This record gives sequence, structure tokens and C-alpha cells, in this order.
Amino acid sequence: MLDWTDRHARYFFRLFSDNLLLYTEMVTTGAIIYGDRTRFLKFHPTEHPLALQLGGSDPDALEQCAQLGEAAGFDEINLNIGCPSDRVQAGRFGACLMAEPQLVADCVVRMRDTVNIPVTVKCRIGIDDNDSYAFFKTFVDTVANGGCTTFAIHARKAWLKGLSPKQNREIPPLVHDTVYRLKDERPDLTVIVNGGIRNMDQVEEHLEYVDGVMLGREVFQNPSILLDVDRRIFDQVTPVRTREDILALYLKYVDEELDCGTRLKELVPPLFGLFQGCAGARAWRRYISENAYRQDAGIEVLYDAASRAFDLQLAA
Ligand SMILES: Cc1cc2nc3c(=O)[nH]c(=O)nc-3n(C[C@H](O)[C@H](O)[C@H](O)COP(=O)(O)O)c2cc1C
Repeated sequence: MLDWTDRHARYFFRLFSDNLLLYTEMVTTGAIIYGDRTRFLKFHPTEHPLALQLGGSDPDALEQCAQLGEAAGFDEINLNIGCPSDRVQAGRFGACLMAEPQLVADCVVRMRDTVNIPVTVKCRIGIDDNDSYAFFKTFVDTVANGGCTTFAIHARKAWLKGLSPKQNREIPPLVHDTVYRLKDERPDLTVIVNGGIRNMDQVEEHLEYVDGVMLGREVFQNPSILLDVDRRIFDQVTPVRTREDILALYLKYVDEELDCGTRLKELVPPLFGLFQGCAGARAWRRYISENAYRQDAGIEVLYDAASRAFDLQLAA
């Protein structure tokens, strides 16, 4: 998720489970080829399993970026065919490519030919007036012919004109049944449903119909829904961490990152929602937002926030 799932947030989410597949933000092929490659491809070893999500439609550029992603150690390359923003459409990638399934298939072929890690696709269930099941199925079948066997599907269509990206995540209705139907008709494919999923009960319900569930906004707003994910979804009997355990572990990481020159403001975004629903959560958020963005802010801001909001004393 752009501006959200940077390497710090991914490190944070990994603390909840060793089993979750994490994704990078969408990175355009241009950003990798011409930009700060180290920044976009850098990750912590604990982030595995980790997918690099690419945005692009030029098979040469995608081939090159898939190679670089594999060499950097990513476990999967995911192609974004779901983002509807104007900027992305101008670059001819994202959701508008649902209208060009053969081009997407060609891109998949080129990437698969060059890497040994899986190449997967994230898409919508339609775009604009192309919102029939037949349109969606033709897209998936064509791309699957290029060798893609895993589809993560945001179960709402996108309007390419007239709606902002935010509206395109809220206004078109969610139709999870379309994703279930695909799995029913193409049991050979790995089908992952995405969109509006808010807790582990819902995750379990979706898993009756599909192979996987992708969570977006809710894990930022309320990451503690992941506290028992290993026990409930991955059938592990590992001890369940508490919010305080997660915070203590993340603070060690914050300390190390501050020593390397990372600013506190870059490290705090995933922490805002950690205590969602607990008494003191507002005071926690407010103290961090008022203090972590100062030029000289250090880790003591987080110790103070925990102490003021929850009377929680964390060893320095
Ligand atoms: C701030 C923000 C940035 C996003 N960036 C990406 C992105 O880079 N790549 C992507 O595939 N989806 C992106 N998404 C969409 C989410 O991955 C997800 O498909 C969508 O929010 C619906 O799932 P949810 O209801 O669980 O959030 C983004 C969503 C948000 C809110």
C-alpha cells in the first residue's frame, strides 16, 4: 500500500506472525530502473515471505525489474493491475490494464521466463462499464494462459474517470461472490480475495470459498486483529503475543533504526492503531502525533506516550 507498507511497517507486521505474506508498496518500473533502487528494494531479513509489487506495462522493463527483485531476495513478484489513479493510468499501468489482458499476459510471460520465483497478479473485478463476469473471467483466463496461477482480487470494480483512488476503494460495491465464482470455475488457480475484510471471523468465512485473504486498511487501523492469526488461520500453537509484547519488540527496532539515522516520524505510522479499542488509545495517538514529528524526536517520545496513555513503563 503506497506510503503505508514501507519496510518499517512490514517489520512491524511481521512481529504478529511468521506466516503472513507481506507485500511492498507498488513500485513502478521507472522508479527501480532510474530511481533510488536501494531504497525501493531494501528490506529486513525478517520480512520474508515478502512480495515485491511492481507497476508497469513494458515487458522489457518488467523483465528487468523482476530480475532485480529476485536478485534482491524477494519471494514473489506481484503485478499491480488494480490501481486506478490518474497518474498510474497516464503511465499505462494499474487497473486500466484490465482492458488489455493480452499485454498483461505478455508481461507475465516475460517475467516468468526470467525469474524462478512466482509471478502473481493483483486486479479488480472490472473497470468502468466492463463489469460483467464474462469480462473479468476473460481477463483472468488470458493472464492465466501467460502462466500466472495466483490472483489477488480486490472484489470491487474501479471507475477510471471521475473517482479518486480513495473513492475507488469505497464507492463501487464489494462483490465477493464474483471472486468465489472464479475459484469455483478455476479450481486450478490460487485465488485470494481482498476488500473490506475486518476481522479473523470474516477471514475464516472467506477461506471457505477461496485460498487466501488479503487485508489492507484494517491492519493499519487495528493491527491487533492479527494477534491470534497464527493460531486461528495457520493452526500453530505458538504463544500469542500481546500488544505490549509487539510494542517492546518494535521499540528495539526503532532504537536500531534511529542509530542508523532514520527519523522517528518515519517509524511511528504503524504504531498509531496498535491500541485501537483500548482505554488510552486516543491519548497514545495524540501524544505521538504531537511529539514524534519534531526534528530532534527520539525514542523517549514512545516511552512517554506509553507511560502517559497506559501507565506502561517500558525499560529503556
Ligand atoms: C493508502 C493506500 C494505498 C494503497 N496502495 C496500494 C498499492 O500500492 N498496491 C495495491 O495493490 N493496492 C494498494 N491499495 C489498495 C489495498 O491494497 C486494497 O486493495 C484496498 O484497500 C481494499 O482492501 P481493504 O478493504 O482490506 O483495505 C492501497 C490502499 C490504500 C488505503
